[in-house]
Amino acid sequence: MAKRNLTPLDSLLDSDAIRDAARQLIQEIQDESAERVLSPKAYLKCVREVERLRGRPLLYPMLTSGCGRGARVRLSDGSTKLDLVGGIGVYAFGHGDPDLLETAVVAAASDVVYQGHLMPGPEYLKLSRALLRHAGPRIKHAWLSLSGAMANENALKIIFQKHAPADHIIVFDRSFHGRTLKLAELTDRPAFREGLPTNGKVLHVPFYDPADPDSTEKSLTILDRHLRRRPGRIAGMCMELVQGEGGFHTAPREFFEALMGLCKEAGIAVWVDEVQTFVRTGELFAYRTLGLDDYVDVVTAGKLLQGSATLFTKAYNPKPGLVAGTYAGNTVGMAVGTRIIERLEGEGYLGDEGRIVLLGRRIEKRFLSLEKRMPRAVGPRSGMGAMQAFVPWNGAPAVTKAILETAFENGLVLLSAGSEPAKIRLLPPVNTTDEELEAAFTILEKTLREVSEKLELSC
Ligand SMILES: Cc1ncc(COP(=O)(O)O)c(C=O)c1O
Repeated sequence: MAKRNLTPLDSLLDSDAIRDAARQLIQEIQDESAERVLSPKAYLKCVREVERLRGRPLLYPMLTSGCGRGARVRLSDGSTKLDLVGGIGVYAFGHGDPDLLETAVVAAASDVVYQGHLMPGPEYLKLSRALLRHAGPRIKHAWLSLSGAMANENALKIIFQKHAPADHIIVFDRSFHGRTLKLAELTDRPAFREGLPTNGKVLHVPFYDPADPDSTEKSLTILDRHLRRRPGRIAGMCMELVQGEGGFHTAPREFFEALMGLCKEAGIAVWVDEVQTFVRTGELFAYRTLGLDDYVDVVTAGKLLQGSATLFTKAYNPKPGLVAGTYAGNTVGMAVGTRIIERLEGEGYLGDEGRIVLLGRRIEKRFLSLEKRMPRAVGPRSGMGAMQAFVPWNGAPAVTKAILETAFENGLVLLSAGSEPAKIRLLPPVNTTDEELEAAFTILEKTLREVSEKLELSC
């Protein structure tokens, strides 16, 4: 067979020699790092030093090190924990995934660590292509950046420029959009902007309430009121289709369709913040899982992407000079982000019956069985696919905190989401195995029983 003419866009991992060399390096690193452990005393000292250096305590006394695998993270004292949070939803295939490590090694050895918008490399092109393959027919452009907040800042600028001189933006109650000065104002958590100046041009619409049959109507009425009161002053509305930090709240397609339809009628931008939902609902973008392609003008992604991006329609392509910046991403992040998307495509993770949707069902089944044994401890559940949460008991913050701490001591890393009620959230790797789920739910049950005794709550 004639040898194919390979180009810089072909994966270097297609070369057996390169893949073998990468494997060998990774193996040697893992063998070596497996031998390196801190004594319990030295470990604790390092954890305290991290806290002292950053000026605030860690949520968990945790310093990780090499040799994690799948949902198991290895700590620097040599112990392992089951990790169903993955750096707040960042690790698509968990810890130490061999294929992603090989991808990372080859990308790291290729040239520079970071790539800027001035000198994009093949990784930049491949990641942009991969994102746009999944964004639907209306979305034409992808602008890469480093963090979810940066992608959201770019989205805001693009939307405001297109709708100038409009100076207001609409968000949902309980929204979370990031930590910059402006995004702290879009985020519906006053504690996250304490002492910061605000300009009061962020308007709110209630998110869907499944307990209220008039919920959609009420949200529509409030959106309509905002639009009527400020004609020409509102640039767009930003939506999380599953609210992440706000508590994993979901809504039916019809709810979003009604609100997006009204935004379109009013001629304002529909912006979907998919930083946390990216990949987790069964498609790369939740607006595609929900079939809302026709409405979306601007999309932002992050976390599982290993970087971030703002995607937009042709009509929202900004004027030169508005969106720039030195960094587009690091070469390893771009290569691994692209590889994650390729594997999701090639290994059956996407779609209605894909492995992400099935993972959601497997988690749901385990919760149902736990709920049967502990009906008071396991309250309402919410989420989609690979983002799931439940309300423990009455969702009091002290109860949630006790569960997180006890679970950690028992070997399971979880995280809270939202308040009133405070939930326990799971952002597991998309390839979480049955064995890992079994082990995690065994620890969760033990934890709930211990907390019930400690806090005198009946199960
Ligand atoms: C929906 C949403 N938007 C934006 C952000 C901010 O992303 P980053 O922390 O990468 O800046 C987050 C982070 O949790 C998020 O969940």
